[in-house]
Amino acid sequence: MQSWLVVMMCCVVSVRGEDFPSLITANASIAVVLDRQFLGEKYQAVLDELKDYIKELARVELKHGGVVVHYFSWTTISLKKDFLAVFSIASCEDTWSLFTRTEEEELLLFALTEEDCPRLPSRSAITVTYVEPGEELPQILLDMRTQRAFKWKSAIILHDDTLSRDMVSRVVQSLTSQIDEGTTTTTVSVSVYKMKHEINEYLRRKEIHRVLSKLPVKYIGENFLAIVTTEVMTTLSEIARDLVMSHTLAQWLYVISDTNSHNGNLSSLINDVYEGENIAFVYNITDDDPECKNGLMCYCQEMMNAFISALDAAVQDEFDGATQVSDEEWEAIRPNKIQRRTMLLKHMQQHIATKSSCGNCTTWRALAADTWGATYRSFTDTDHISIKDAANVTTGVIEHVDMLHVGYWRPIDAIRFDDVLFPHVDHGFRGKELPVMTFHNPPWSIIKVNESGSIVSYGGLVFDIVNQLAVTKNFSIKVILPGNVKFLASNESSKDMSHSHDAMVALAAVAKGQAAIAAAAYTVLADPPPGINYTLAVSSQSYCFMIARPRELSRALLFLLPFTTDTWICLGLGVILMGPTLYVVHRLSPYYEAMEMTRQGGLSTIHNCLWYMYGALLQQGGMYLPRADSGRLVVGTWWLVVLVVVTTYSGNLVAFLTFPKQEIPVTTVAELLENQLTYTWSINKGSYLEMELKNTEEPKYVALLKGAEVRTSTGDMEGNLSSAWKHQLLRIREQRHVIIDWKLRLSYLMRAEHILTDTCDFALSVDEFMEEQLAMVVPAGSPYLPVLNKEINRMHKAGLISKWLYAYLPKRDRCWKTGTVAQEVNNHTVNLQDMQGSFFVLFLGFFSASVVLLLEWLCNRRKLRSEDVIIKPYVE
Ligand SMILES: *[C@@H]1O[C@H](CO)[C@@H](O)[C@H](O)[C@H]1NC(C)=O
Ligand SMILES: *[C@@H]1O[C@H](CO)[C@@H](O)[C@H](O)[C@H]1NC(C)=O
Ligand SMILES: *[C@@H]1O[C@H](CO)[C@@H](O)[C@H](O)[C@H]1NC(C)=O
Ligand SMILES: *[C@@H]1O[C@H](CO)[C@@H](O)[C@H](O)[C@H]1NC(C)=O
Ligand SMILES: *[C@@H]1O[C@H](CO)[C@@H](O)[C@H](O)[C@H]1NC(C)=O
Ligand SMILES: *[C@@H]1O[C@H](CO)[C@@H](O)[C@H](O)[C@H]1NC(C)=O
Ligand SMILES: *[C@@H]1O[C@H](CO)[C@@H](O)[C@H](O)[C@H]1NC(C)=O
Ligand SMILES: *[C@@H]1O[C@H](CO)[C@@H](O)[C@H](O)[C@H]1NC(C)=O
Ligand SMILES: *[C@@H]1O[C@H](CO)[C@@H](O)[C@H](O)[C@H]1NC(C)=O
Repeated sequence: MQSWLVVMMCCVVSVRGEDFPSLITANASIAVVLDRQFLGEKYQAVLDELKDYIKELARVELKHGGVVVHYFSWTTISLKKDFLAVFSIASCEDTWSLFTRTEEEELLLFALTEEDCPRLPSRSAITVTYVEPGEELPQILLDMRTQRAFKWKSAIILHDDTLSRDMVSRVVQSLTSQIDEGTTTTTVSVSVYKMKHEINEYLRRKEIHRVLSKLPVKYIGENFLAIVTTEVMTTLSEIARDLVMSHTLAQWLYVISDTNSHNGNLSSLINDVYEGENIAFVYNITDDDPECKNGLMCYCQEMMNAFISALDAAVQDEFDGATQVSDEEWEAIRPNKIQRRTMLLKHMQQHIATKSSCGNCTTWRALAADTWGATYRSFTDTDHISIKDAANVTTGVIEHVDMLHVGYWRPIDAIRFDDVLFPHVDHGFRGKELPVMTFHNPPWSIIKVNESGSIVSYGGLVFDIVNQLAVTKNFSIKVILPGNVKFLASNESSKDMSHSHDAMVALAAVAKGQAAIAAAAYTVLADPPPGINYTLAVSSQSYCFMIARPRELSRALLFLLPFTTDTWICLGLGVILMGPTLYVVHRLSPYYEAMEMTRQGGLSTIHNCLWYMYGALLQQGGMYLPRADSGRLVVGTWWLVVLVVVTTYSGNLVAFLTFPKQEIPVTTVAELLENQLTYTWSINKGSYLEMELKNTEEPKYVALLKGAEVRTSTGDMEGNLSSAWKHQLLRIREQRHVIIDWKLRLSYLMRAEHILTDTCDFALSVDEFMEEQLAMVVPAGSPYLPVLNKEINRMHKAGLISKWLYAYLPKRDRCWKTGTVAQEVNNHTVNLQDMQGSFFVLFLGFFSASVVLLLEWLCNRRKLRSEDVIIKPYVE
């Protein structure tokens, strides 16, 4: 195994060694491709000059080894030779086709090509586009697109006379062209709008307004590329703001070409920037200095310079490496083709970035306005805020605009980015601190305090949402409590629970712009208080009612239940009638005369017949049977009846024992209204429900409101039950009262009561009605409303919000299973309650027997006495 491995290693090394000589053993060779077609008549001059230059350069700069240069005049060369790198001057198309081949051979390509050419991937090649000064604009846009400075799918190009007709088509081409190699680069669909250049300020305004107001932004997107002069830029940004086209979801890129290195302080030209805008600028800081170097040859020399310098460093590196280890080891560890290419590339890029001066005068600068959360910066430092500080928040003007330096563009190395072009699109609020208003209102916002009364943490559903927003939108939260606001509390008495004093103060503070958002759940009202906007609803709460669980009916008369009253009556009549019938049939039958038998025994009196039939009913056979068939038929059919009756009775009795009978449950509003006489109900004063019921015209709800008592607020549901709630619960349990409230609140109540008493005496209605929407609040016209709504919507869709809410819901307990009214089925052991009826009957039997006994005794006495009276005189 081991020997085999060694053989493998040797093979690899030797193959690699043949394939790709070390820089120590062989001189590096490079291919210089000068496309004759592309260079035209300049070809010979360029070739001669370059040959001389490289020779001289190698002699002076290359301290170790040498370089072998192969010259070609067309791009379709064979790359099989051991080239280290390829340098080319060719058209864009040829450069790219050459690149695919150098990529196959893992060679380094550094290319000089024409304008409007997408640059080769910077991880394996260097591209310099030679542009005549003043023509670079399309190349800049192309570079931005390929470097993904903006990730747009569509763009609206607004331009004035800055762009000539020819330039417009090149700009469009640079945004829409298909680029094969850059896999991540998508094409942008563009719409182009031209604005006439007007000197007069008023006419210019009018013209811009005309163009902007007609843009169908719904269909062509909200990414604007304005290629304009400085004056137009100022006017344009003002009008865009007036038309609400410059907001958090829109992106504006201003490309300004009429600046230069002397007047190029753009910060002084930007008048106002408003909170929440996405604005970036790319502007011309080209220097007109006649000393500026430029030209094709200049770029050639600079690139060769960079290459020779890189090569020198690479050779030096390999020498250093080789001297430290043995030859065999060196063969194993020396850089492979890709590693060497990467090293050379890095070095060349570094060299160009620092030393390049060709076309250095043609420079453009990119800036981005840091707007999000900028107006809140001033007062998140202090704990106590007052209205005055925040005066300019609502207008949204940022007083000290921070312009972020994004990068420079040069023809030789495109844009070097120090930051992203649209910082807020990529990084949200960039970690700024936003003031967030909140107050305690579980389960929406929960403020936890420790024993000494200082706040430990903030929680609750709304805080879960805000924390998630903070993560996705990259801001940190500065919590402000209503108590910290120096603010004249409105004199409105607290009405509903969600509109307590704290809630009112917080609302007013948000309306004044003192907080970016109120992290609390407010009821969404049809006509909201002034100065605020609701976000998307974070939760919707439905109302239902809470009622005492239906009780089981008394089981005292259980033994009577299997038959209805008329059945019992018929049965009684049957027994009573069958006695005489039997007697009559027995009496009239000629059988006994014919057979000369006496009708002896029990059936000779009506009284006995009655008892006989009764006994048969209870399956106690009588002593005697009639001997005549007529009489026997009567008795026989009675036995049949008895069989049916008794079987039915016992079967039914078992069923009644198993399924106890309950009160008819009240589970819907309609049923509640039907039982108006039995039940009373109440709703919260000033609640959303009361308001909605007042506005509705549905007869059901009108009746509901009419019959309702209005109770004053009973406090929130956290921790122990307040005494007000206890009173309400007592009423439900004992006075057939019903309370109507949020389902959530009622379930908390049920849970608390269950923990307290370990009984399940209450049930919630099946009916849920009148959804109440709860939302957070932002200052009216807050630019971040669409951003927050988008995020909240995503959280809803991902199911995050329901998951979080679920965590705050009362835990499911055994009351929950039958939380709504439903019949309970279980194995029932017969208990005294079930049997009490029969014992009662037994007692009744005893009682009546004793009464009859007494009567019999009395009768007997009387009879004896009267006999005494009669006999006495006879004896004497
Ligand atoms: C490398 O180039 C140098 C100078 O150009 C030359 O003196 C030397 O002989 C060359 N070495 C090889 C191995 O070709
Ligand atoms: C950039 O500014 C320079 C100097 O003012 C000017 O010559 C050049 O034409 C400008 N570039 C563009 C694209 O307008
Ligand atoms: C640009 O102008 C602003 C004020 O208008 C000034 O503070 C800043 O120093 C200027 N920057 C340059 C580079 O001149
Ligand atoms: C080229 O321009 C850049 C930025 O404009 C500057 O930092 C650099 O020093 C310049 N290089 C030379 C060699 O002039
Ligand atoms: C608010 O802005 C206006 C103009 O936009 C300015 O006059 C006023 O001084 C600003 N107020 C504060 C408190 O900064
Ligand atoms: C948040 O903003 C900071 C500052 O700009 C940035 O460095 C960071 O990458 C951003 N984080 C996210 C997740 O975007
Ligand atoms: C409560 O929290 C404050 C601040 O975190 C801390 O200083 C204090 O010691 C805590 N008190 C108790 C009783 O834990
Ligand atoms: C609040 O109202 C009461 C009576 O309605 C009044 O006496 C009191 O002055 C009011 N307070 C404020 C701060 O307006
Ligand atoms: C925000 O509130 C204002 C005034 O209350 C209202 O005119 C506007 O339509 C609201 N905006 C949204 C998006 O609801």
